[in-house]
Amino acid sequence: MYLTKEEEATLEGEKGEGYQKAMELIVALGDISDAEKLIPVCSSQVSGVSYKTIGDAGLDFLRELAATGVKARIDATLNPMGADPFQWHELGFSEEFMKKQMEIIESYNKLGIRPSCTCTPYLADNIPLKENSVSWAESSAVVFANSVIGCKTNRESGISALSSALIGKTPLHGLHLNENRIGTFNVKIDTELKSDTDYSALGYYIGKHYDGVPVFNNLDPKLEYLKALSAGLGVGQINMFHITSEGEKLEKISFGKQELNETYESLNTTEDVDIVCVGCPHCSIREIYDLIKLKPEKNVWAFTSRHNCNLIKESLGKNIKLISDTCMVVSPLEELDVTSIGVTSAKAAFYSSNLSKLGVKFDSIENLIK
Ligand code: F3S
Repeated sequence: MYLTKEEEATLEGEKGEGYQKAMELIVALGDISDAEKLIPVCSSQVSGVSYKTIGDAGLDFLRELAATGVKARIDATLNPMGADPFQWHELGFSEEFMKKQMEIIESYNKLGIRPSCTCTPYLADNIPLKENSVSWAESSAVVFANSVIGCKTNRESGISALSSALIGKTPLHGLHLNENRIGTFNVKIDTELKSDTDYSALGYYIGKHYDGVPVFNNLDPKLEYLKALSAGLGVGQINMFHITSEGEKLEKISFGKQELNETYESLNTTEDVDIVCVGCPHCSIREIYDLIKLKPEKNVWAFTSRHNCNLIKESLGKNIKLISDTCMVVSPLEELDVTSIGVTSAKAAFYSSNLSKLGVKFDSIENLIK
C-alpha cells in the first residue's frame, strides 16, 4: 500500500509509540484488504466501551494507550457504556462495576474521544454529511450512515475505529469505493410492515440470510423505521442498503408474512418478562414522546442518548425510566437478577439471548405493554 512520507514516519515511530501502534494496525488492515492507499476521515465512532464487553484486558489496553499521550486528531465519539453514570446506583448496578466503567471512560477522555455514549451519534452530536468518509464501528450506525445519510464507512472494529481517530485516516477499500456501493439484490416486501419492530425483523431476516447491498423498493422512509431496519441488517453482514428503484434488474427475493412470522418465532424464547426495554438503537425524541402517550402500567426502561435526555421536558409518567449512555445489551442486567426481557428490537432480542443469556419476548411496544 502506498504511504506518504508523513504516514511512513508515523509508522516508523517518529511521532511516538501510540501513533505508531495505531498506524501499524491501519496499515495491516489496508494490506489485508488490498487497499491502494489511506484516505482522510472526518469522524470516528468507537465501540468497545462497556466494561461488560471489554473487561479488564480492554481497560488495561486503553490505560496503557492513554499513558502514551496520544490524542484523537478528528472528531470522535463513543458507543454506549455499561451503565447510566447518573442513575447506576438507583438502578442497582454495583459500585465495583461502575468504578471500572468510569476508568474506561476516563481513558477514552484522555485519548480525546468524546463520551457521548450513544449508538445513534447521527441523532445527537456526530453528524457527518453526504459523501463524507468516516470510520464508524457500531454496526447499526454504519448501515444508517451509508444508506440514509449517504456518507461512506466500512464496519470498523472498536480498535480500528480508535486507530482511525488517532491518525485521522482509514484504508481505501470496501464501502469507501463507489463500485462496492451498488445494489446487488432486490427485496420485494409482500406483507404489511406496521411498526419499527416489523422493520427490525425485516432487517434481521435479510441480514441473516443474505450478503451484499439490498435494494428495497417499497419502504416507508420514516426515520425510526430506517433506524430499526439498519440495526436488524447489521446483526448479519450487511453494511448498506438502498431504498430507490435502481435494483429492478437484480435478483429478486421476497419477504412476506411467512418470513415475518418465522423471524418473530425464532427470536421469542419466553412469554413472561421481568422488564420491558426499548431503545435499540437508542430512542429518538419521537419514540420517547410516543411511549409517554402509551402510559404504560408496568415499568418500561427507555434507553437514549444524554443529548436526547436533556431535550425531554415533558413528564415521563410514573412507569417510564429514561436511561442514558447505556443500553439493555451492554449493561449487566444479570447483576439486577433480571432473567427475561421484553424488547422491540431484533438486535436486542438476538444479543440479549446470545450474549446475556436472558429469556426474550420480541414484540411491538403496544403488545409488550399489554
Ligand atoms: Fe445500540 Fe445497544 Fe442496540 S449499542 S444498537 S442499543 S445493542
